[in-house]
Amino acid sequence: MIGTDIELAAKFLNEGLTVGIPTETVYGLAANALNEDAVISIFKIKKRPFFDPLIIHVDSIQEAKKYVENFPEKALLLAEKFWPGPLTLLLQKNDKIPYLVTSGSDKVAVRVPNNPLTLSLLKQVSFPLAAPSANPFGYISPTRAEHVQEQLGNFVPYILDGGISDVGLESTIVDCTSDIMTVLRLGGLPVSEIETCLGEKLLVKISANSNPDAPGQLDKHYSPNTAFVLSDNLDKSIMKHKGRKIAILNFGQGHISPQIYALNLSETGSMDEAAHNLFHFMRQLDALKFDVIIAKKLPEYGLGMAINDRLTRASVK
Ligand code: TXA
Ligand code: MG
Repeated sequence: MIGTDIELAAKFLNEGLTVGIPTETVYGLAANALNEDAVISIFKIKKRPFFDPLIIHVDSIQEAKKYVENFPEKALLLAEKFWPGPLTLLLQKNDKIPYLVTSGSDKVAVRVPNNPLTLSLLKQVSFPLAAPSANPFGYISPTRAEHVQEQLGNFVPYILDGGISDVGLESTIVDCTSDIMTVLRLGGLPVSEIETCLGEKLLVKISANSNPDAPGQLDKHYSPNTAFVLSDNLDKSIMKHKGRKIAILNFGQGHISPQIYALNLSETGSMDEAAHNLFHFMRQLDALKFDVIIAKKLPEYGLGMAINDRLTRASVK
């Protein structure tokens, strides 16, 4: 069921059930983070391996402090500047958070999402919400209540409809547990903004292969069922796939033959608009069952880096 009834959503969560929740990044599949059975049902519904830890969602810095050993000064600076918003902080957890949530780690990922319905819901319940993106493991993340309904509707009693996710990319994750702040996932908040806030450079370690601290950052992820290719030269890639039914995920100006089906993430070249459209357009193209989707690589700065990260993982076979 899809709706906007916060009381009903809270009732299901209090009973230990899962609820689809809107956030500004992507929709989440939420449950009481302090209830192990409820947390297990998240993993089951998503078919997610237990080694891939969950982010907990709270409504304020004050609430976040209840679940961590300490809140380092730099982390506090970031929380004050960017929460509610697309930033997740990795902090030392305390005993209240089950190891099931963190996949056995002593660190917990926390954020305050920026969506009015979800913030009201968080105020109604007395626990933090563990919530991964509300898609089957490995598939494209959802940015609308309908996306959640299509794939998980049969398994989730309620989906809170907060409209289209504004940002459209998952949160940026920063490990704040050592003095060297480290980015574990590129996301909706550009690294440059975090660096400006702190007045220092961050370390970026985003490959699962090179970084055991970032479980779940698998090379193949965000993947449509259709073959997916990332290209820095569309004409060349189109030639290469000649004879097949091709769809293009374009960005900015640049002519494509009108015979080829194309969606443009942003004709004006806006990174914000491209992020906002990304997952919806990937889902639309996937549903049309072309032989191959060719996506144009974005410029490597700002949100372009996070978008290219998603496109690269989507293209891994
Ligand atoms: O924007 C978002 O962050 C969305 C919305 C729903 O809040 N959530 C989201 O969750 O993207 P999910 O489950 O799709 O990605 C969570 C990732 C994990 O795969 C892992 O890389 C990292 O966050 N993570 C979570 N807890 C962690 C921990 N304790 N240590 C290291 N990495 C962690
Ligand atoms: Mg996810």
